[in-house]
Amino acid sequence: MVVKVTSICCIGAGYVGGPTMAMIALKCPHIKVTVVDISQPRIDAWNSDELPIYEPGLDEIVKQCRGKNLFFTTDVEGAIAESEMIFVSVNTPTKKTGLGKGKAADLTYWESAARTIAAVSKTNKIIVEKSTVPVRTAEAIEKVLQRNCNTSGVRFDILSNPEFLAEGTAMDDLTAPDRVLIGGKIEGQEGTDAVASLVEVYANWVPQERIITANLWSAELSKLAANAFLAQRISSINSMSALCEATGADVSQVAYALGKDSRIGPKFLNASVGFGGSCFQKDILNLAYICECHGLTEVADYWYSVVGMNDYQKNRFVKRVVSAMFNTIRNKKICMLGFAFKKDTGDTREAPAIDVGNGLIEDGARLAIYDPKVSDAQIAMDMGAGMSNITTYKSHIEALRDAHAVCVMTEWDEFKSYDWGEIYGVMQKPAFVFDGRLILDHDKLREIGFIVYALGKPIEPFLRSAEGN
Ligand code: NAD
Ligand code: UGA
Repeated sequence: MVVKVTSICCIGAGYVGGPTMAMIALKCPHIKVTVVDISQPRIDAWNSDELPIYEPGLDEIVKQCRGKNLFFTTDVEGAIAESEMIFVSVNTPTKKTGLGKGKAADLTYWESAARTIAAVSKTNKIIVEKSTVPVRTAEAIEKVLQRNCNTSGVRFDILSNPEFLAEGTAMDDLTAPDRVLIGGKIEGQEGTDAVASLVEVYANWVPQERIITANLWSAELSKLAANAFLAQRISSINSMSALCEATGADVSQVAYALGKDSRIGPKFLNASVGFGGSCFQKDILNLAYICECHGLTEVADYWYSVVGMNDYQKNRFVKRVVSAMFNTIRNKKICMLGFAFKKDTGDTREAPAIDVGNGLIEDGARLAIYDPKVSDAQIAMDMGAGMSNITTYKSHIEALRDAHAVCVMTEWDEFKSYDWGEIYGVMQKPAFVFDGRLILDHDKLREIGFIVYALGKPIEPFLRSAEGN
C-alpha cells in the first residue's frame, strides 16, 4: 500500500537537514515537517532570528514555514514516534581511528539514529537515507532496525535518497534539482510502494521526469560517484593549471576551449587553489576504501590520486607565495581574503584556506584574515595553535593595511568590487597579489603596480626572476 505521507521527521538539523526540510515544508503545506537534533544550541539557533547556517534564500523560507508546518526540536523520540517517514541526515565523517581510519565513513551517528528509531517506533516507518553513506549501508541499517525494535509487526522500509545540493546555492538546487534520486527495493511490492510514497512528496514541485528511481545500491553508489566525478574534474583542471604555468598557456583559455566541447561541458572547470567542503575529500576516500575492501586496488588508487592532486595544488600555492616573496615570508603580514571553502557560505570544513594558512605560518608568516561570513570563533577553531600567528579583521582594508601580500582564498563577489588602488596605497611594497580563485582583473592590478600571481596563468617576468626560472 502506498502511504500518503502527512508527517515527516528529519534526524539531523545541519547543512542538509535544515534546508531540505525547509523546502519540503514550503512546497508541501499539507505535510508536518519536524527537524530534530541532539544539539540544543543548533535547535535553538534554528528557532531564532540567527539561523545556524548561512544560505541565500533560506531565512525567508524558514520564517515563512516555521511554527506552521515546520518545527525544530530536540525531542528526537517524540518526533520519530509520530512520523510516517523519517529522513536521516546526520553527519558521516571520515573515521579518525580504528579499521579504515582516515578513509572509511564513520557511521556511528547513523547507527545511533537507527537504534533510536527502532526503540521508539510503534508503527510502520519509511526510513530515508539522506546522509551520504557507503554502498550497502541500507542492509546494515535494516538489521539494526529489525533487531532492536521491541514492538512486533512494525515494518521498516528503507530508501536511499541522496542529496545533491551544493552549499551557497542550496535553495536554488532544491527548488529546481537536476534530478531527485530514490533508491529502494524495487524488485518487491512493498519496496515499490515505499518508493512511490517518497516520489509523491517530491512530485509536489519536481517534474516527474526529474524523479528517478533505482535499486538501493545504485542510489547509494551514485552519490559517492557523483562527488568523485565532480572533484575529479577540478583536480584535472588544476593539474592543467600547473602545466599552463610551466608552458605559458592560460588555464582559463584552456578550460573555455574544453568546455565548448558538448561532451565535456563548461561546468566545474574553474582552476582553483583546491577544492574544499565537507564532502568531496571524505566521499572520495570512502569510495576508494570501499574499492580496496573489494580488492580493487587499481580503482582505489585512481580515486586517491584525485585527492592527491588537490593536496599538491594547495602545497604548490604555498610554495609560489614563498618563492615569489624572495624565499622568505618570516614576520611578513600576509592577508588572506576569504576563509570559507567557497563563496556564499560560512562553512569552512576542509577549506583550502586552512592548509594554505598553516603552510604560510610554518614559513613564519603573520596572517591577517578577512571573510565576510566566517566568524572569528570558527577561524580559531580551525586554526588551533596557529592562532598565535593570526589576526582576524572585520574590515578588508584593515586586514590589508601594511600587508606584504594578499592571497585570495575564496571567490566572494565583494573582492572584485574593492578599490584596489586604495588597497595598493595601504600595503607594503612590492605589493603581491596571489589570486587562488582567478576572480580579479589581473591586468588592472598590474597597471596599479601590484606583482600578480594568477594560478594557471602565464607567470610574469618579476616572478620568474624572483623564482630563478
Ligand atoms: P552537519 O554536521 O551539518 O549536520 C548533521 C547534524 O546531525 C548535526 O547537527 C548533529 O548534531 C546531528 N546528529 C548527529 N547524530 C544525531 C543523532 N543520533 N540524533 C540527532 N541528531 C544527530 O552535516 P551535513 O553537512 O548536514 O551533512 C549531513 C549528511 O549529508 C552527510 O552524510 C553529508 O555527507 C551529506 N551531504 C552534505 C551536503 C552538504 O552540502 N553539506 C550535501 C549533500 C550531502
Ligand atoms: C558538492 C557537490 O557539488 C554537491 O552536488 C554535493 O551534494 C555536495 O558536494 C555534498 O555532497 O556535500 P559543495 O561541496 O557544497 O557541493 O560545493 P561545490 O560547489 O561542489 O564546491 C566544492 C569545492 O570545489 C569548493 O571549494 C569550490 O570552490 C571548488 N570548486 C568548484 C573549484 O575549485 N572549481 C570548480 O570549478 C568548482
